[in-house]
Amino acid sequence: MMFDLSKKYGSVVTIWLGNTPVVIISGYEALKETMIGLGEEFSGRANYPLMMKITHGYGVLSTSGHRWMQMRKFSLTTLKNFGMGRRSIEERVREEAEYLVEMIKKCKGSAFSPADMLSNAVANVICSIVFGHRFEFEDPQFKFLLQTVNSIFIILSSPLGQIYNVFPKLVSLFPGKHHQLFRDTDKAREYCKHQARSRMNNVDPSCPQDFIEAFVLKMKEEKDKSDTEYHFDNLVSIVWNLFSAGTETTSSTIRHALLLMMKHPDVQERVQREIDEVVGKDRWPSIEDRQKLPYTDAVIHEVQRSMDLAPIAIPHKMMCDTEYNGYVIPKGAMVFPLLSSVLVDSKLWKNPNCFDPENFLDADGRFKKNDAFVVFGMGKRVCLGEALARTELFVFFTSLLQHFTFKAMVPPEELDTKPTNCSFGRMPRTYECYAIPRI
Ligand code: HEM
Repeated sequence: MMFDLSKKYGSVVTIWLGNTPVVIISGYEALKETMIGLGEEFSGRANYPLMMKITHGYGVLSTSGHRWMQMRKFSLTTLKNFGMGRRSIEERVREEAEYLVEMIKKCKGSAFSPADMLSNAVANVICSIVFGHRFEFEDPQFKFLLQTVNSIFIILSSPLGQIYNVFPKLVSLFPGKHHQLFRDTDKAREYCKHQARSRMNNVDPSCPQDFIEAFVLKMKEEKDKSDTEYHFDNLVSIVWNLFSAGTETTSSTIRHALLLMMKHPDVQERVQREIDEVVGKDRWPSIEDRQKLPYTDAVIHEVQRSMDLAPIAIPHKMMCDTEYNGYVIPKGAMVFPLLSSVLVDSKLWKNPNCFDPENFLDADGRFKKNDAFVVFGMGKRVCLGEALARTELFVFFTSLLQHFTFKAMVPPEELDTKPTNCSFGRMPRTYECYAIPRI
């Protein structure tokens, strides 16, 4: 619908959701001029009452201005520097990929649904980064954290969540699943707080081992500053943001990648051939192999481009009255960056309307970068976990295809690969499949 409006009325369109104006920006040039050229002005985050209730207005995903800037800078540097602890991010991802392969091997080639295994594996990477260790999949605390993140998604995409976002006070008066969700998120916040408190007195200042320890060190450093942003409320909400933004996104992308491999067995075979030639079967693939695996790299990019996971990114908010293209966009207006419009633009892609890895390959079969690959957003709010997500997608996908051939339960022609639409994005299908061992 939004895409049709922008095709008809141009790259800046205003619609009204109730009495809130929403500005839709579409097309690569307009998005570049706004999200990057006017990055500061467009850097606010739209206020969704449901997210506010869950994060209490703290953290990095739902905040704007000074708090957001501080928390974002800290999160990015901490995620980047993780090599400084005992283990790098890649090692944490690889450890989890190995567990995942072992789990799938246990299915012994019989039909299974990969959705939960993938969610568990990806969530465990976040646990390893945040808490410093992975959990057994059956651990009650792990299950509780995962179920709570899952309930956030279910409620966010349900009519209840949408009504709550418009009439929060009224909906709070009625019984419903949202009350259980709020109780659960408060309980999960307490768990994170407890984890942080238990580290307060025994962090090695020269070598924090995980995200919580790095934050706790900053809390100590700034304990005498009255206006510090380094306090439990921000820590707990950031941890929550990493879980909610970093689990479903990556795990459903891998789930979709496997579905596309079953739909296109020729592509799957070519990826496996490339992995066999470069990595072989005696060691695990590592991120250093990526440059030598141009076809595989192109396939992963094309999975992400064609699935268009977050068509309107996460809605923004104007930080001040801003003139763009002859229009004045008022402070506080909601902004939808229509990333979809870039991902299917026939002027920017060889073959935009179907799954075709050639979109990322040059005539000599080398990987071809394209600035129109905007699946992680653009500008100051670009995905904070992009580097982690790319490492996960590469390591999980190559490890899985090194070890298994994925086969659907129906002939490829009958497989429906179209993700379903939901209120905040596109949800890849769940399915059962066979994983035939190759090693
Ligand atoms: C395939 C995987 C992923 C995709 C496609 C994706 C995509 C996005 C998009 C489109 C945005 C919004 C950009 C905007 O507001 O304009 C975003 C924001 C965000 N993502 Fe990701 N993401 C992925 C994985 C991750 C992971 C693994 C993490 C966690 C470590 C993460 C953490 C975040 C956070 C915290 C934000 C909010 C940043 C801010 O508000 O400043 N994401 N992501």
